[in-house]
Amino acid sequence: MRKIIDGEEYEIPQHVAIIMDGNGRWAKKRLMPRNFGHKEGAKVVEQICEDAHELGIKYLTVYAFSTENWKRSVEEVTGIMNLLRRYLVDCIERASKNDMRVRVIGDRTALDTDIVEKINELEEKTKQYTGLNFTIALNYGGRDEIRRATVKLVRDVKEGKLSEDEIDENIISSYLDTADMPDPDLMIRTSGEQRLSNYLIWQLAYAEYYYTDVLWPDFTIEDLKAAIRYYNGRERRFGGVK
Ligand code: IPE
Ligand code: IPE
Ligand code: MG
Repeated sequence: MRKIIDGEEYEIPQHVAIIMDGNGRWAKKRLMPRNFGHKEGAKVVEQICEDAHELGIKYLTVYAFSTENWKRSVEEVTGIMNLLRRYLVDCIERASKNDMRVRVIGDRTALDTDIVEKINELEEKTKQYTGLNFTIALNYGGRDEIRRATVKLVRDVKEGKLSEDEIDENIISSYLDTADMPDPDLMIRTSGEQRLSNYLIWQLAYAEYYYTDVLWPDFTIEDLKAAIRYYNGRERRFGGVK
């Protein structure tokens, strides 16, 4: 889809994936606890959903908690989970305003049961919306996702539902948490770090990567537009020659 942004026409990436990083440093700079940064960061997620929808982005996928983030202090992990409890409930109301379908990817088995119930309710109550497809990666890790997909796939082969020579890249994709989503076109990481940190490692194979020093709680629509401008300056070759 093409769209005019501030007087110029741009191709809007269909799927944008974001690594929302820098909450802790943002709080530290203000001599506040890390969880204060997460709280501010959560508010920014709400705003960016609206902005993404307005810009015509169809899929927005954000990294909220990785399979590695359990290594953090109990205090921080508890703080993030409590924030999430509120966020998942509030999200139902905002989804109806933004015509937003919300889904969660990642391994739910390690989450508290009340959180899993909230996720199920959010997914169920927003499934009729067709505007923005908003996905939250929660207790998500790319390697863990491939591991879980492999377990399911091997089971289906054993049960005769799938034969070995049917296994192509599309089949593998269909076993991932992102089964019915297109691959991201653009990946944004805030806070100056330039690594994937186990995010969507299969799906990001051909995405364009945009890095910014802005810390996540300071991220605005202007930064999102800057990423889209950067994306438009790239020539996507997918291994061919242009
Ligand atoms: C990202 O911010 C949020 C989560 C990983 C939950 P960080 O908490 O990683 O912030 P920094 O990187 O320590 O500044
Ligand atoms: C990635 O950020 C995970 C999320 C944003 C949820 P981290 O801050 O955890 O990643 P590393 O530790 O810097 O690689
Ligand atoms: Mg970080």
